[in-house]
Amino acid sequence: MVEVCLSPELIHLYEVKSKIVVVIDILRASSTIVTALESGVVAVRTEADLTACKALETQQYEAAAERNGEPIEGFRWTNSPLQYYQNPESNGIKLALSTTNGTRCVQLSQAADTILIGSFLNLQATAEWLNRQEKDIFLFCAGWKGKVSLEDSLFAGALLCQLSAKPNPQCDASTMVAQLWNLHRDNVTEFLAESAHYKRLNNKGLAEDIQFCFRQNLFTENIVILHEKDFVKQAI
Ligand code: MLT
Repeated sequence: MVEVCLSPELIHLYEVKSKIVVVIDILRASSTIVTALESGVVAVRTEADLTACKALETQQYEAAAERNGEPIEGFRWTNSPLQYYQNPESNGIKLALSTTNGTRCVQLSQAADTILIGSFLNLQATAEWLNRQEKDIFLFCAGWKGKVSLEDSLFAGALLCQLSAKPNPQCDASTMVAQLWNLHRDNVTEFLAESAHYKRLNNKGLAEDIQFCFRQNLFTENIVILHEKDFVKQAI
């Protein structure tokens, strides 16, 4: 079965143990992690805490961070997927990433059997791989500081609509996101222009990042999965 959690503030109402969790933070953490790994980064360690993230530099990680959509002084890398995409400098590095919302969801999912990162960029590959698994699936939307976000909810609907597993009948959020996707699947960009975080990032001059995060199935060969402590890409 599939369940959807629309915000980290609701996670205490669910059980993730033994499930496959898909962490969703379309703008921009999950899009950044997927893009970094598809652009030659060999591993991404997520850290909710900025100091712990920076400390990973002593273990050959390069530090990347963002708070409130802004880069952090002293961190070599940011949370922009376009900083990694087709950038030869990201080739072969290990990245430690801390963001406002997305990395916290990974931390809150530690009891899960498996953790994936979902984004529009690897939507189909993620669905294909999930459709071969037997375990329950949990779609975990990062939102913004505890609030629900349109882009994460819409993506949860897009993924759910490609899954063969049935939504848990007790989970109205599953029905909600599936209907949201069915209403807006042909006008994703126009619909998501209403999103609060779209406007926040757009006001910071990050329109190119936003458009990149909405591209569907740019990466079709791999899922992004937590292996021991690091996210890596794995062929589907
Ligand atoms: C987050 O994790 O909160 C986001 O990715 C924020 C951002 O757009 O950088």
